[in-house]
Amino acid sequence: MKICLLRTLQTLFPCFLVAGLCPIPAAAQIAPVSNPQLASKVLNGRVDALLKRMTLDEKIGQLVQYSAGYATGPGASNLKYDELAAKGQVGSFLNVIGADATNHYQHIAMEKSRLHIPILFGLDVIHGHRTTFPTPLALAASWDSSAIETVARMSAEEARADGIAWVFSPMVDIARDARWGRIIESAGEDPYLGSAMARAWVKGYQQDDLSRPDSVAVSVKHFAAYGAAIAGRDYNAVEMGEITLRQVYLAPYHAAVEAGAATIMSSFNSINGIPATANPFLLTQILRKEWGFDGFVVSDWGAVAELRNHAIGDDAAVARKALEAGVDMDMEGNLYGSVIAAQVLTGKIPESVVDEAVRRILRVKFALGLFDHPYTVPGPAYSATPERRAVARKVADETLVLLKNEPVEGLGDLLPLTAKARKVALIGPLADNRKEMLGAWTVAGNPKDVVTLRAALAERLGDRLLYAQGCDLLSGEDANLLKRVDFIGGAAADEHLPIPDDAKTIAEAVEIAKKADIAILALGESASWMEGEASSRVHLGFTGAQEQLLQAVVATGKPVVLVVLASRPLQLKWAAAHVPAILEAWNPGVEAGHAVADVLFGDVNPSGKLPASLPRAVGQEPLYYAQMPTGRPAHGDLSHIPQNAGEKFMSRYMDEENSALFPFGWGLSYTRFSFSQPTVSRAEVPVREVLASGKEPVTTVGVDVKNTGSAVGTEVVQLYIRNTAASVEQPVRELKGFARVTLAPGERKHVEFPLGFNELNFYNVEIKRTVEPTTYKIWVGGSSLATAETELKVVE
Ligand code: BGC
Repeated sequence: MKICLLRTLQTLFPCFLVAGLCPIPAAAQIAPVSNPQLASKVLNGRVDALLKRMTLDEKIGQLVQYSAGYATGPGASNLKYDELAAKGQVGSFLNVIGADATNHYQHIAMEKSRLHIPILFGLDVIHGHRTTFPTPLALAASWDSSAIETVARMSAEEARADGIAWVFSPMVDIARDARWGRIIESAGEDPYLGSAMARAWVKGYQQDDLSRPDSVAVSVKHFAAYGAAIAGRDYNAVEMGEITLRQVYLAPYHAAVEAGAATIMSSFNSINGIPATANPFLLTQILRKEWGFDGFVVSDWGAVAELRNHAIGDDAAVARKALEAGVDMDMEGNLYGSVIAAQVLTGKIPESVVDEAVRRILRVKFALGLFDHPYTVPGPAYSATPERRAVARKVADETLVLLKNEPVEGLGDLLPLTAKARKVALIGPLADNRKEMLGAWTVAGNPKDVVTLRAALAERLGDRLLYAQGCDLLSGEDANLLKRVDFIGGAAADEHLPIPDDAKTIAEAVEIAKKADIAILALGESASWMEGEASSRVHLGFTGAQEQLLQAVVATGKPVVLVVLASRPLQLKWAAAHVPAILEAWNPGVEAGHAVADVLFGDVNPSGKLPASLPRAVGQEPLYYAQMPTGRPAHGDLSHIPQNAGEKFMSRYMDEENSALFPFGWGLSYTRFSFSQPTVSRAEVPVREVLASGKEPVTTVGVDVKNTGSAVGTEVVQLYIRNTAASVEQPVRELKGFARVTLAPGERKHVEFPLGFNELNFYNVEIKRTVEPTTYKIWVGGSSLATAETELKVVE
């Protein structure tokens, strides 16, 4: 309470410090408290009391984490984990699943180790634990923070029942490059949407109270800018200016820290030549000093030891650099355990550095209540209970994005199918594949729980449903790829041998399409082998013979609905030109088939919007709507360009459009929405007022949204701005507000978006967030192409 008061006074009156009234050092004063639970005096008292009793070895033990289960990276240790736990030489285990397994180690730690310090069990709970929900990218397509909170809360309950009190989620890396396989774990390309999703994940997992028996601590990852790996190649270096780093890439991390994130995971990549795992600027300056982060930092898998490959020192040096930079726990690296103690004893590393790291880790353990309740009472069998399935279905319904829906002769708009679908041919390698519906990073999910599209359509259509697989996800030509695809060790290759005979299976599919009124193709890429970590691709089309299959079925002349099942933006250029209806379905989780069928048959009106742009060609990547301006815009005002220069000397490609095939924010509905001319409550605001506004609005943008169609529908109303005269150039558009609005046919609702410093600021050349006199253009609409326009003047 006292600390809070001091901090509040300090914020209100910076001179309070100068007056010498405050005994706390300046840096600690200025930084906000990121999580009051971790800053609690009582808790810190317990931590300090324990720390005083610890030997150096016991302290270092807390900084060490091993995988005592399966491996999620190279070079997994194979140690005597029982012994380590008994000696207090391990602070955390990852990849131990199930109440029995976690209790086993916990009993050893609590009963045999000298100080009875509980082990913190961490796991990749990414989009559900036992119950698998849609992938994070899909969830971001819902633009529904409350849905994400629900998913996180349910995942926390399930994880905790398995003894997992710490999840390696959310991944808040901005992902603007579809070649990067980990785009599936992200909320896509935009910092505003990404920040909203980050807050929702943290809130759902931690529930603002780590001590709840059904809360887990998050690990926000991967700090930082991992998504900007050069050429979209996983683990690759990142080169980035500080303004972009802060304004775009760090924004969701900051949002997560402000929401109280208990831990952060450092990333594999280097940034401007300094590996993130040994980066004091990121881990100490920004994270702790500027943001006031009170939790602890864990390295990514083996990343401390991998610093040797970054060639910045030997074992001792890299471990020291990581620890001193602010990496508190070494995940599956074994370096802290082996080389820190000697350096402390020789005075190379001050013991206070070790103490601080231990303190941070113990704080989280205390806050989670692990000292008081170390064991897990096995919970109910969560997986696939009807209640959980109902939530999974509702959430999945919201994630589906209708990319295209055109009229077909005699049928009107092809979707929804309803009575048009007398006989339906369901075709494709993802039509009846349970495992693939779960999506990447489903550690404890069970394919048996999945309802496939084939099963869901059979429920509706009975024998009016015809089915053919058509082809496999990989074809005979992909023999080399088959060897690479599965990190678990060749399972994929086994599943897919013998090599498929595509010509034969495509011909069979064509025959069943001919017998039907409508064909639904379920195509995509393999979530389990080609998406997620270490799954970068340079070709973003359908894998194997799927495109040939699609073309062959389209050639029958039957109306085709394409359902894309992939949690990365695939290149759909041919399909967009030749297929009348396309539904982006991502990887929808256990209720995949039901959710897709809900939308195909119109029980659910689609409302998802793209969180990442879909490219026309791979060469456009990284592709995102919030581009910086250029002096030679291809589609801008060309009047100042001399006639004879023509259009050649423009910022564009010779062989492709600049724009996305389907842009950020895009998504159709079975109804239509119109937007009134937006208005601002105050059209001119003095700059000093904006500067002082912080999170409070200085003006409000209002717009009327009307459902002009004949079905009930939900529109995600989006607000974009452009700063037209800043001292540092700003993107041509930036999302700064969104709202999901449900409207009955003919209904109109007024929607308001607040704008203040938070929305209008940018980083100037001094790397300070600021607002200057300028005019902001403002657009409101149903995608990043929004046209309803107004403006706001910020004046001297
Ligand atoms: C990944 C992390 C993950 C960790 C533990 C790493 O390879 O980059 O996202 O949390 O493994 O499984």
